[in-house]
Amino acid sequence: MARSLSFLVALSLLVCAPLCFCRNTNGGGYLYPQFYDHSCPKALEIVNSIVAKAVAKEARIAASLLRLHFHDCFVQGCDASILLDSSGKITSEKRSNPNINSARGFELIDEIKSAIEKECPNTVSCADIMALAARDSTVLTGGPSWVVPLGRRDSRGASLSGSNNNIPAPNNTFQTILTKFKRQGLDIVDLVALSGSHTIGNSRCTSFRQRLYNQSGNGQPDVTLHPSYAAQLRSRCPRSGGDQNLFFLDFVSPTKFDSSYFKNLLASKGLLSSDQILVTSSAQSKQLVQQYAENVELFFQQFAKSMIKMGNISPLTGSRGDIRKHCRKINQN
Ligand code: HEM
Repeated sequence: MARSLSFLVALSLLVCAPLCFCRNTNGGGYLYPQFYDHSCPKALEIVNSIVAKAVAKEARIAASLLRLHFHDCFVQGCDASILLDSSGKITSEKRSNPNINSARGFELIDEIKSAIEKECPNTVSCADIMALAARDSTVLTGGPSWVVPLGRRDSRGASLSGSNNNIPAPNNTFQTILTKFKRQGLDIVDLVALSGSHTIGNSRCTSFRQRLYNQSGNGQPDVTLHPSYAAQLRSRCPRSGGDQNLFFLDFVSPTKFDSSYFKNLLASKGLLSSDQILVTSSAQSKQLVQQYAENVELFFQQFAKSMIKMGNISPLTGSRGDIRKHCRKINQN
């Protein structure tokens, strides 16, 4: 009996070890790519087809889905806490400074979830749907692919303060941003590679206005911002008003996942302060920016690795958390 048990353990380790590179550090279980192979074999296909249809209709949704996964993972782990609406004891993270009037893609996640519930009820978590949608969004806009470790479960609560405190702000210093990444187990290489997400998507005027008019309290624009680019931005991002006006994070190829974001930074044409400081505040991160600007393959390789690492932040596994029936609310039981 003991021998056959140890044989089984050895066998499962042998089979699982190459796949289960995603043991998390908080004592939880493993995530692994084949998690739904038997329980919901069509799950990945359903996510992909709905995301593909949405991206064909509006390219920006890819950026919004990628960001949603990030804003989820940095707040009590990748547990779909960002998707919960306010109700009862829950104060939604959607109200936090980084998310309000900004985070989007919630309706599309609902659409995917309801299609998956029809195929295999109570099986696929909202957190896994977000991880898959982030990967598919990257691929559909021309970026790298990776195999997504799965098996996350959904939280029974949200954290507004976690959302306000953990997610870096665009006017944070380099050190503050790096510290916020380090608290999540991510390092400077992850920070630079993942910031490369800003190769797609938009920002509102309010997120970078300070750079155009009064960067450091002396009534002057940010000296690290290219003057003609700044002038162009000022035309639609005035001193006051126009807060919600939208601008491309990568003005060269805003819907294409490529390395032009890094090239822009080297030309002093990063949109957010948090983008530009990657070349002005740390020699190490500047060197990484230069490498990714020059070598898109290197950027893609590291991006995929860092996305897997981010997707593995404190997942709920086993019997912890739930498979929510609706992503916006906790199960009633
Ligand atoms: C390093 C610290 C980061 C800061 C300070 C930051 C900040 C921001 C800000 C201010 C915006 C514009 C929001 C708005 O004005 O509505 C934005 C957009 C975006 N961020 Fe980040 N971000 C960071 C890292 C990341 C990471 C790690 C990812 C993904 C892995 C990411 C993905 C995106 C995407 C794709 C958009 C565009 C979203 C859309 O068009 O809907 N960001 N970010």
